[in-house]
Order: sequence, then C-alpha cells, then structure tokens
Amino acid sequence: MRQAVMHDNENILEVENLKTWFYTETGVAKSVNGISFAVPAGKTVALVGESGCGKSVTSLSIMRLLQEPAGRIVDGTIRFNRPSGPVDLVSASEEEMEQVRGGEIAMIFQEPMTSLNPVFTVGNQIDEMIGLHNPMMTKTEIREQTVRMLKLVGIPRAEGIYKSYPHELSGGMRQRVMIAMAISCNPELIIADEPTTALDVTIQAQILELMKELKDRIGAGILLITHDLGVVAEMADEVIVMYAGRIVEKGTVMEVLLTPKHPYTKGLIKSKPAIGTVKDTLYSIPGTVVSPAEMPDYCAFYNRCGQCAKECRSGIPDLEPFGDTHFAACYRIEGGNKAEAVTGESGRD
Ligand SMILES: Nc1ncnc2c1ncn2[C@@H]1O[C@H](COP(=O)(O)OP(=O)(O)O)[C@@H](O)[C@H]1O
Ligand SMILES: [Mg+2]
Repeated sequence: MRQAVMHDNENILEVENLKTWFYTETGVAKSVNGISFAVPAGKTVALVGESGCGKSVTSLSIMRLLQEPAGRIVDGTIRFNRPSGPVDLVSASEEEMEQVRGGEIAMIFQEPMTSLNPVFTVGNQIDEMIGLHNPMMTKTEIREQTVRMLKLVGIPRAEGIYKSYPHELSGGMRQRVMIAMAISCNPELIIADEPTTALDVTIQAQILELMKELKDRIGAGILLITHDLGVVAEMADEVIVMYAGRIVEKGTVMEVLLTPKHPYTKGLIKSKPAIGTVKDTLYSIPGTVVSPAEMPDYCAFYNRCGQCAKECRSGIPDLEPFGDTHFAACYRIEGGNKAEAVTGESGRD
C-alpha cells in the first residue's frame, strides 16, 4: 500500500480503492471510481476538483450517508483508525456508524441550515450532541461545555446565542455554530465539505481563520473539500486532486501547487481567481467534466486536455510517483510514467 509508506505519522483514515456508484434509470454513474488516499492524524488533507468530480460523494461515502438504494459503495475499504481500534466504515453496522457520526468523525457542510434543526435552539442541539457522547455528564456540565464551545468559535454573547434558533442567526454565525457542534465531541476526524463556499468573502476569511486556529488546538485530522485553491494554500498539508471520480494528482501542498504535474491541476491553478476578483473574467479549462454515466475507458480528461496525444486513448493512466510523496496520473508527463517503469502494484501494460 503506497499510502501507508507515504506518511511518517499514523493515518487516522485510509481509503483504499473506493468505488461509489449510483444506479439510475439512465445508467450507472461511476461517481467515485477507485480512489485511494490517507488522512494522517492531525493533518489537513484538501480534496479539490471542479464541481461534479465526486468530492461530496467521497465524503458521503465515508459517513455512509449516501442516498440509498441508488447510491452504493460497490468496492473498497475505508479504514478509520479510531483510538478504540480500527473499523472499516464500508462494512460497519448502522449502529457502529451512529457512534462514528458526530462523535468520532464530525462533518461540516456547506449550508449549515440544512444540518441544523430549525425547531430547536442552537444551545439545545449542541447539548444533545455532547450529552449523547458523554453519558456521565450532568445537564449543567453539558450546558457549560456548550457555552465554552460557542465562545471557542468566536461567538460573542455566547449565553444569548445559546437560546437562539438557527434562523435568527446570520450565515457566518450559523457556520460557527456548526463548527462548534462539530468539535464539541473531540472528533478524531473532521470532514468539511465546502465549509465557506456559501459565505461572503469577509466572513469566509473569518471562518477560515477560525478553522486554522482550531486545527492546531484540537489536533483532529481534517479532510477539507473545496474547489478554492486559495483555501488549500492557507489550510492544507496535503492535496488530492480529483477528476471524474478518480485521483489524478496528489502530494504535499508545495508539490501540487508549486510544481503541478497533471494538465488538469495546471488548469485549475491557472483558473484560480485572485482574492476579490470576479471569477468569470478569468481563464477556465475548456469543456466540462465528463458525466459519470459516460466514463470513457481512457483518460477522462482527454477531450479537455491541451497536451493529449494518441496514447492517451490507450487506457486509464495510473498514479505514478514523482518523488516520495508526489503522484500524478498522466501518460504525457516528462520524466514520468512510461519512461520509468514502476515496480509493484502498478499493473498496467
Ligand atoms: N444521488 C445521486 N444520484 C445520481 N448521481 C449522483 C447523485 N449524487 C451525486 N451524483 C453524481 O455524482 C457526480 C459527483 O457528484 P459530487 O460528488 O456531488 O460532485 P462534487 O465534486 O461537486 O462534490 C456528479 O456527476 C453527480 O451528478
Ligand atoms: Mg460537492
């Protein structure tokens, strides 16, 4: 397993050959199609790619919150190395998953309104979460802990906000509440799916600052899903670039952002807007992401790639190493791939 040797420290999450497909009336959408990656304990791994690449389906697979029966994990393992012992989230019982969700793995969504319950005060909702995972705590202790959490995420007048309903708060405040809820049970892993995308730029910066601060303080591994490379540069230790359900490049932030290998990654970097600029005036990669129901049996980026050649239609390129921690999947990278045969599990012919 490459991932196991990729990091010196222990991984909190190890995803191996994950395939999540949707069985729809119009065919099988191979939304996530054989991805492997790890999140080292205490580190932030960013999962990037354009809309429709399979980022959210990856996070929903880890949490086992897929829309069933259409959405199914058809292959692979998701090893969660929790303190009480490792568990494969693909085969875990629903009971085990309830323990994992919200307690050991917390999720922060793009739009907190969908995950906060509108009929309960935010205080009650955090209380419930803390109470569920800390059965020995008294009501007063739980309440004190909730207020502490609200203060920790920078909510002024935390006692007052405790009694507010979600709709009474601004978007930025709600996202802070979500983060408070996420960290209230000391999770080992936080999955944040586009946590700032729905917020305006100033609030976005504040929430990012908060997440950065908390990152070191709580020591949880973070899987940060974003299409914003500015966020990646600020927050992440490692980057995974996803395209059409597969990983096309991964490495440290420096490697991927400063010396990108894959033409897709290069395109993403080129189209990154500077902070505060209007996005649609910038370069964008021509074409659109191929539909997961019509995945070709060759490089899925072929029809959008400026570097494509005949060989790119000969198969699906594997991830090949370009150093200890840097990998890319492309036949056209100089010095890589075919020029240098890779030993071991890379079984392409
Ligand atoms: N419930 C579903 N049924 C069918 N297709 C789905 C479903 N959810 C997601 N998909 C498809 O899977 C692909 C990946 O989606 P998603 O993971 O949400 O992308 P993103 O990278 O933007 O988060 C998309 O093409 C999407 O249409
Ligand atoms: Mg998404």
